[in-house]
Amino acid sequence: MNKILVTGATGNVGGHVVTELARAGLSVRALVRDPSRARLPEQVDVVTGDLTRPETVEPALAGVEKVFLVWPGFAAQTAEPVVEALAKHVRHVVYLSANVPEESDAPPIFHQELERLIRASVPNWTFLRPSGFATNTLGWADQIRTGVVHWPYGQAARALIHEKDIAAVGVHVLTSAGHGGAAYPITGPDLLTQAEQVRIIGEVTGREARWEDMPPEEAREHLLAAWGDANFVDSALAGWRSFVDSPEQVTDMVEKLLGRPALSFRSWARDHEADFR
Ligand SMILES: NC(=O)c1ccc[n+]([C@@H]2O[C@H](COP(=O)([O-])OP(=O)(O)OC[C@H]3O[C@@H](n4cnc5c(N)ncnc54)[C@H](OP(=O)(O)O)[C@@H]3O)[C@@H](O)[C@H]2O)c1
Repeated sequence: MNKILVTGATGNVGGHVVTELARAGLSVRALVRDPSRARLPEQVDVVTGDLTRPETVEPALAGVEKVFLVWPGFAAQTAEPVVEALAKHVRHVVYLSANVPEESDAPPIFHQELERLIRASVPNWTFLRPSGFATNTLGWADQIRTGVVHWPYGQAARALIHEKDIAAVGVHVLTSAGHGGAAYPITGPDLLTQAEQVRIIGEVTGREARWEDMPPEEAREHLLAAWGDANFVDSALAGWRSFVDSPEQVTDMVEKLLGRPALSFRSWARDHEADFR
């Protein structure tokens, strides 16, 4: 049987994609850097590979028909040889991209480059362009425990999406026809400011939590230390700033594709209550 390869299989989205495909009885291969750390369903074929070492990716593509491609948050230097290998071996690539606002003054990020490469060489592709992930708010967990979250742009409004919805759309696209050449902007159902997100997490976890704005320059220093890539940091900050005046657009694409409403931020917080304890 032809396999589906999933990268980022130990991550937020890829983990659910692997589990759902395996549950549906499909033949799944997971590309991971360290199999000893990967907690995946028993029937999944786990192979070792690293997207920054393209020579490790091609062997993982034998017998693979479709790929769910997660390109983790690093630059696209090795994207060209990796996408070349995909184009040679694979019929359909579903790429987890991002919904970059057209009006934003943010510098371009690796997703635009990956989309360009895939479009140019892979026979059949679908781009998932999610809004901000609800999982981003896990970064506030320590601060939530203290009752105050310090971060810039409390009035930035986003339509955060549950990682389960992104994965469900990915599985739907991988297992049904008619998605070739489509780019799906998928979002959560609610537009919430960052300050409201913190309040909801507080309500769900039973700890009162509030927002206090931090100067963006200070946040830039923290992000540079965490992510390293100045371009990516500036792009993220410009993105948040833009959502103050131009809130993220809510789409009904998850519902259109899955036939059920997208999961709310409150339900995401309930699913992750233990992470904020
Ligand atoms: N956060 C957002 O708001 C947002 C919005 C739109 C798009 N996105 C995009 O979503 C993607 C991240 O998805 P996610 O949150 O599901 O991922 P994640 O939870 O951050 O996990 C990253 C995954 O990538 C794997 N990985 C890291 N480096 C790798 C390498 N060199 N080679 C192979 N695999 C590697 C990790 O595996 P191991 O560490 O186990 O090896 C892990 O499975 C990124 O492309 C991001 O830009 C995010």
